[in-house]
Amino acid sequence: MITLAVMASGGGSNFEALCQAFQNTPLFPRLLVCDQKGAQVFARAERLGVPAVHLPFSSSEREAAASRLDDLLQEQGINLIALAGFMKILPASFVKKWKGRLLNIHPSLLPRHPGTHAIEKAWNSGDKEFGITIHLVDEGVDTGPILHQNFFLKENSDTLESIEQKVHRLEHWEYPKVLQRYAEKNLGVNL
Ligand code: GRF
Repeated sequence: MITLAVMASGGGSNFEALCQAFQNTPLFPRLLVCDQKGAQVFARAERLGVPAVHLPFSSSEREAAASRLDDLLQEQGINLIALAGFMKILPASFVKKWKGRLLNIHPSLLPRHPGTHAIEKAWNSGDKEFGITIHLVDEGVDTGPILHQNFFLKENSDTLESIEQKVHRLEHWEYPKVLQRYAEKNLGVNL
């Protein structure tokens, strides 16, 4: 049996997309972990009925937070984690322990534009193709094995804002499908 936790830092639109897609299925998130007090994602979690926990992940608190997180995940029987806009770096020891059960979504066609402000970086680079990447997390920043990518071509009428909207729409559409497929293929889930 798979029990999913989602980690986020801000708005939480990807978290909400996962909750909507997995409503009444075994993959419905059992826990939300967020490192930012007062982030909008907490209100979404409350509305959607997902228990939420705040854990600070600043660099001085990172190791302690990861160890508390690991305990919490064990206590709750969580065995799959989806990072969805989680903006902090997890310690290598945590990543190593959770390898293969820790996925991330990134708003660019990796390996182009890793790190923060990826859509803006792609826009400023004059990219003609924009897209998303869903990958397994390794010890690097947005470097883990790629599970899935999808893209669209920039149109003449596009602005940075319209591109951002299209990228997010694509994320919300793809992440649940890829997570479900990954769980079914690799973790024995049958939805
Ligand atoms: C998404 O674009 C995600 O790919 C990136 O951060 C953004 C989070 O958006 N890592 P939201 O919090 O899910 O609305």
